Amino acid sequence: MNRKQRRAAPKHSPPSGDPAGELFAQAVRSQQQNQLAEAARLYKRLLVLRPDHAEAHNNLGRVLHAQGKLTDASAHFAQALALMPQLFEQSGGICATLVGLLPPIGEAMRRANAAWPKRLTLDQLLGSAGLSAISADPMLLCLLQSVPAREVSLERVLTSLRLSLLDAAIDPGMPFSAADLAFCCALAKQCFINEYIFATTAGEDAQVEHLQAAIGAAIAAGTPLVPVTLAALAMYRPLHGLPFATSLLEQTWPPALDDVLTQQLREPSHERELRAAIPRVTPIEDEVSLRVRQQYEESPYPRWIQIPSGIESSTIDMHLRGLFPTAAFTPLGKTEDLEILVAGCGTGRHAIWVAQRFQDARVLAVDLSVSSLCFAKRKTPAPLLERIEYAQGDILKLGTVGRSFDVVDASGVLHHMADPLDGWRRLLAVLRPGGVMHLGLYSELGRRDVVAARAFIAERKFAPTPADIRRCRQDLLETSLRSVTRFHDFFSTSECRDLLFHVQESRMTIPAIKAFLIANGLKFIGFVFDRAVLKRYQTLFADAGWSMTDLDRWHEEETKYPDTFASMYQFWVQKA
Ligand SMILES: C[S@@+](CC[C@H](N)C(=O)[O-])C[C@H]1O[C@@H](n2cnc3c(N)ncnc32)[C@H](O)[C@@H]1O
Repeated sequence: MNRKQRRAAPKHSPPSGDPAGELFAQAVRSQQQNQLAEAARLYKRLLVLRPDHAEAHNNLGRVLHAQGKLTDASAHFAQALALMPQLFEQSGGICATLVGLLPPIGEAMRRANAAWPKRLTLDQLLGSAGLSAISADPMLLCLLQSVPAREVSLERVLTSLRLSLLDAAIDPGMPFSAADLAFCCALAKQCFINEYIFATTAGEDAQVEHLQAAIGAAIAAGTPLVPVTLAALAMYRPLHGLPFATSLLEQTWPPALDDVLTQQLREPSHERELRAAIPRVTPIEDEVSLRVRQQYEESPYPRWIQIPSGIESSTIDMHLRGLFPTAAFTPLGKTEDLEILVAGCGTGRHAIWVAQRFQDARVLAVDLSVSSLCFAKRKTPAPLLERIEYAQGDILKLGTVGRSFDVVDASGVLHHMADPLDGWRRLLAVLRPGGVMHLGLYSELGRRDVVAARAFIAERKFAPTPADIRRCRQDLLETSLRSVTRFHDFFSTSECRDLLFHVQESRMTIPAIKAFLIANGLKFIGFVFDRAVLKRYQTLFADAGWSMTDLDRWHEEETKYPDTFASMYQFWVQKA
């Protein structure tokens, strides 16, 4: 992975005298001087000492790639991704790296795209080597089992491969190697992760229906199942939704398929068991809150797989100082017992990050949706469960809970309320004097193509059902609104529902944010960007003699470059 991707990762700066740190520094020097063999030797020595050194795996992957040792490079990139899942956030770069390491997948992407919507056979996609050209590649297997494939041409390859594997699985004469089965299972996991977003044909749907009936009949008759037939069904439907789901757990399966059963049966069952234990801290009565709750009960957002690693904990003051070196905020001075509210915590990824990031923090994580909270609770590492309290509640009623907080975090939430500014005021009411708040709000300018896509959806009367979401995506890809593929959320069903089909969405402008800050006596601390983007703005603002907290300047900048806040306005404010 390249420099930009690695910037998303934590830095390793071991103290001097640390042999692993010294080896790493030597290896980096050799790599920079293009002494590839020496760099590879040093990274390998380091990895004997520290097999979990993600940066060493990543750098060794780059060295091996430069040496043309593609399979070995792929294995080390896969280990880096497993150790540092945040690298997946740079999906464009990950896909480019994959294509560089696995040329047959790049060629298959070109062919699948050129032929679309026609589905290609294995031979047409991958030549005479067939599936074996890609099936054992570590990085591809890692990607399939970790995040939605966020690239349209890769999605098209996988859509065609899935159909070929279905055809092969239902053909009793077709041989299936252990590697073929493992690939089929990895693809089944990918489909569960993206919630079955790949397009299907009517013929394919009928085949899947038939396959499900045949498996059901075999189970009823006590006939042993061929594992690949079950893996094939799991590529199209979540196993937990099948009428014979529980009997699947009574049998022994090959390890790759057993992993699919864990993902698709055991984990959802664990989430269902957690439902009764989620406390409700407020009633939910508001009409919009009820509709929003319903959406997220059906489609918890986001369905993430791995938490970022290597998060160093610090005080809130150090965190803000790191983000905003020159901002004039008043330090909270809290080094212990920091109380944090994560309002609209969804499936918990951010609440977990917050609990890890802030020293001695106790987190109340509230959401409307019990399904989201159960997902969050299942995914929370055991040591953090003592510090994160998950509860169902409505932001509109949080004032009745009788608690206040040093920090309030509400990212991607208020714009789903009937009156986002009212929601913001309710959160301010539970923020202690001098406390700080992090918000994420949609930008009117940044989402102009999403607004157009929503109009397209309304005009063509697509419903927010999985089948319509699948059809709508394919239609959008044929129009200029294909630009919405730049949002990660386009690539899984509940995220795509959140992106384009939301029951309640509004957007904000910088002048409206500024007016709210003035009316409520809030100090603007700064916008959050990733490091590279931030550096660009710091230079731009410094050269122009502007302050980074001057919202009029930011408004000018956004008007000139409407994608400045395409994902959201992410910012911190402080209460007087
Ligand atoms: C787009 S998701 C964002 C989840 C999370 N903040 C994140 O960034 O991953 C919005 C979440 O806000 C929650 N939400 C919306 N309105 C809410 C309200 N009035 N009270 C509590 N939660 C709310 C929804 O249930 C949903 O889980």
